[in-house]
Amino acid sequence: MSTQAIDEVLRTTRSVRRRLNFERPIPPELIEECIEIATQAPTGLHRESWRFLVITDPEQKAGVARLYRRGFEAYAGRREGAPSRAQQALVSRLHEMPALILVCSEGRPDPGNNAMNVSFYASVLPAAWSLMLALRARGVGATWTTVLLVHERETAELLGIPEDVTQTVLLPVAFTRDAVLKPAARRGPREVTFWNRWGERRADAPASSGAGDQEPAP
Ligand SMILES: Cc1cc2nc3c(=O)[nH]c(=O)nc-3n(C[C@H](O)[C@H](O)[C@H](O)COP(=O)(O)O)c2cc1C
Repeated sequence: MSTQAIDEVLRTTRSVRRRLNFERPIPPELIEECIEIATQAPTGLHRESWRFLVITDPEQKAGVARLYRRGFEAYAGRREGAPSRAQQALVSRLHEMPALILVCSEGRPDPGNNAMNVSFYASVLPAAWSLMLALRARGVGATWTTVLLVHERETAELLGIPEDVTQTVLLPVAFTRDAVLKPAARRGPREVTFWNRWGERRADAPASSGAGDQEPAP
């Protein structure tokens, strides 16, 4: 196992919304291979509650893109500052993506019960992330998106999703076109990690600069 190759994939699986190849279809076998890898993720009570809806039909993609745009505009109207150019690039070309993968879960969460709620989503989202990693390793870019959930009911009607199935993340996917994917600038581990008691830093660690412990990403 090459630690270096694995770390590279883990460090550089970015949201890819530009420099995508809209013309190059993604072979269904490649998507299934990535789903096979993704479903090695942990699954609560061995239920394998994940379901993957792969949307390649142009009309269905256009329908999803319309709903996504409505959700995106509602989200953009609520937040301060304009959406990024990358976010806008994605919303304007979503219907052109070779495939949209909607990761779903059989069943419904229990919002009143945190343990059940966490278990519900934690049984599906690690697989969605593994799917992004497996796609990345094959030159396919994706973005983790949730604004479509604003219109979960309409999406369900459009795609024939039963009422007892919960939608989670939508991954628009396409082969990347000379995209250079780099590690993101994130807070360093010492800034986000406590040891033994909430708020306590590792005693034998040198004092942090406060701006993160790692070199910022280029
Ligand atoms: C819970 C969640 C929801 C997100 N929803 C959207 C979305 O609806 N549309 C979008 O363009 N990006 C979405 N993103 C992607 C984030 O904007 C992105 O992860 C962030 O900008 C950091 O960039 P990176 O993924 O390249 O590190 C979402 C990410 C998360 C974790």
